[in-house]
Amino acid sequence: MFVTFEGPEGAGKSTLIAALAVEFEQHGRRVVRTREPGATSFGTEVRRLLLEGDNLSAETELFLFLADRANHVQRTLLPALREGAVVLCDRYADSTLVYQGYGRGLDLAFLRRANEFATGGLRPDLTLLLDLDPEAGLARLDSKDRLDREPIEFHRRIRAGFLAETKLDPDRWILIDASAAPDRVLAQAKEAILRQLSGEGGE
Ligand code: TYD
Repeated sequence: MFVTFEGPEGAGKSTLIAALAVEFEQHGRRVVRTREPGATSFGTEVRRLLLEGDNLSAETELFLFLADRANHVQRTLLPALREGAVVLCDRYADSTLVYQGYGRGLDLAFLRRANEFATGGLRPDLTLLLDLDPEAGLARLDSKDRLDREPIEFHRRIRAGFLAETKLDPDRWILIDASAAPDRVLAQAKEAILRQLSGEGGE
């Protein structure tokens, strides 16, 4: 089963994913934790360019994220899914739609096609949106990368973009209030994934 985690900066995705992995592994599930950008050795190079690079245009940025994604799907995601793992992925195609589309203003229809191309059509079974006010999220960060340093209006478009996307495909998205206590966020996420797993006949 393929689960992705999305949300603005500082929403606590990585902490949540780590806690979920422990829970599912304790129940005998094989779990693969991964992320975009930067899960493969190729991706590590791309991630450095993306997060530390100087003066990247929206178009350049887009193709770097897509290159990372294509490699990640082929090298990590498809093999893990074929083995029946529960794959917990920190950001995926929705981040491109939202950051490069709603955030940078690139054409959404084009981005949807580009994602389809890069992923070979691999879509998440479930996507958890950790929704949070961008000021609160940015205040939680210890250090800021190139994208974190964008003006607050950019981060407001990101939040609005994610919320708009949930409305287009409500069956796939689970909206979670990331300002709630961590154990409550974990409980909600766990329940949503278990529900999906039981719907798939335990697969
Ligand atoms: P990261 O440090 O992984 O951020 P986070 O912990 O918030 O996930 O940095 C990834 C950054 O890249 C984040 O600001 C979101 C952005 N991003 C895009 O703009 N487009 C994309 O397709 C992806 C995957 C990430």
